[in-house]
Amino acid sequence: MTKPKIAILGTGYVGLVAAAVFAERGFDVLASSLDKEKVNLINRGQPPFYEKDLGAIVESVVRTGKLRAVLGRREAVLDSDIFFIAVGTPSLMSGEADLRLVRETAAAIGEALREKDTYSLVVARSTIVPGTTRNVIIPLLEKHSGKKAGEDFGVCMSPEFLRQGAAVYDTRNPDSVVIGELDTRSGTFLEGFCRQVYAGQNVPILRMNLESAEMVKYGRNTFLAMNISYINELARIAETIPGIDIYEVVKGIGADWRINPAFLNAGCGYGGSCFPKDVKALISFARLRAVQPQLLETVEEVNEQQAIHVVAIAKQEMGGSLKGKRIALLGLSFKPDTDDMREAPAIKVANHLYAQEADIVAYDPRAVPNARERFIRDTIKIYYADSVQECLKEADCCILLTEWEEFRKLSPEVFNRCMKRSVIVDGRRIWDEEFRKKVAAYRGIGLGSDNAYASEQTVLLKLGDMLTKAGLITQEQLERALEEQNRTGGLIGANLIKLGYLTEEALLGFLGKQYGISRKG
Ligand code: UDX
Repeated sequence: MTKPKIAILGTGYVGLVAAAVFAERGFDVLASSLDKEKVNLINRGQPPFYEKDLGAIVESVVRTGKLRAVLGRREAVLDSDIFFIAVGTPSLMSGEADLRLVRETAAAIGEALREKDTYSLVVARSTIVPGTTRNVIIPLLEKHSGKKAGEDFGVCMSPEFLRQGAAVYDTRNPDSVVIGELDTRSGTFLEGFCRQVYAGQNVPILRMNLESAEMVKYGRNTFLAMNISYINELARIAETIPGIDIYEVVKGIGADWRINPAFLNAGCGYGGSCFPKDVKALISFARLRAVQPQLLETVEEVNEQQAIHVVAIAKQEMGGSLKGKRIALLGLSFKPDTDDMREAPAIKVANHLYAQEADIVAYDPRAVPNARERFIRDTIKIYYADSVQECLKEADCCILLTEWEEFRKLSPEVFNRCMKRSVIVDGRRIWDEEFRKKVAAYRGIGLGSDNAYASEQTVLLKLGDMLTKAGLITQEQLERALEEQNRTGGLIGANLIKLGYLTEEALLGFLGKQYGISRKG
């Protein structure tokens, strides 16, 4: 097979990383963008966003002429044999994926296909719900080209599985390639290309129909998101048992050959451009099909609570109020090695801190410009420090949100020296026991603590007052429930439910929202 020429439509993470790696492997690649500035940047050898290792490859493949960015789609399609649709599919308010760019791109490819007389292949690489390639993309391609899919041109769907910060590595070393095909000829064409790209590497190629391939992407991402919410819930339970450490527990769980512990790191929740969006999209997809996605809904809910939970721990360590407390946030990006703030737990954390009148000072090695833009939109006041030391200066409490390498290396002395008192909430569990012993107070996700137990008890003891303040029950109902409690014992919440003043659902909803408590009790 001669080397096909490749066009990548879309120059975001997915598109540009694929373009760079395909070019690096010796293919002629055209990267199409509608943004002139992006095109110019790429043609100067600079990716328009930060991604580890990408700069060096783009610089080199542009220099050798293997990669070229072009404005618009027509030229890219006319000069290529395989076209990858790699445009964004952001969430709409409903949670559904927005297909506007996918539609536009499919229509534009169709227009250009009209002018081509050789067999070529369209590959959907964007994340799209099952049925989209067949029911949205193919009709547009056919309408605008006047040609027949499966006869005049081929169509495949091949999802990507890139982690930001490791996107180059993941593209160079995929654990598998999934090919959804309209027909055998399409699939064989794409498989041939993939075998050339990954020649000498042992990469399994899985072929299936279009819809199954589309579902694989959602299946993988929502499964991983579920793992994370699962371990965060287990961590929350563990925190109430002094001495327990969820990270030790995971070693034990993961020793079972049926369980892969790789994505069972408890923390302040998942963020980024994929997990939150894909969980939402699958939820709305299921609902449209009259399937209630109970598990997925809970995955999302637990994740929402997890960021709030970190704030609740800080609040407790601050004696029950964050008002006027200087809180140092270490890390803002949704994970290390990226400047991406999309759906970062830091957004929820900062919002909650701000609502409770804390003074927020933050440091992140890369994400500050994006954070600034994001928090201006949210009208949250944050002071951005230029270094860890400046961030910690005179702080009452430090919350670690992103596990940057730079933070792992910090010694307890830095915290002791800079902070008013070294109270640390480790939202990613990066510091070991030695470190923990040397700071004034340390609380980590999934690390059992006497305080954690006390905090829930305190919340439950004061529950009656809080429910009254929130307007969920009246003062009179509270008094009756207290009388009942005196008479028969039991917790106040249980008595309120027994007397019919509150449903269990409402009570758990309140506890979850306010305090991140989701267990019954
Ligand atoms: C993810 C998928 O891993 C990738 O295959 C897919 O194509 C795109 O979405 P990405 O969003 O870049 O990649 O990051 P990932 O490393 O998966 O982390 C996502 C979020 O989950 C981060 O906020 C991270 O901190 C969190 N996470 C991950 C945990 O909280 N615990 C874990 O064990 C793993």
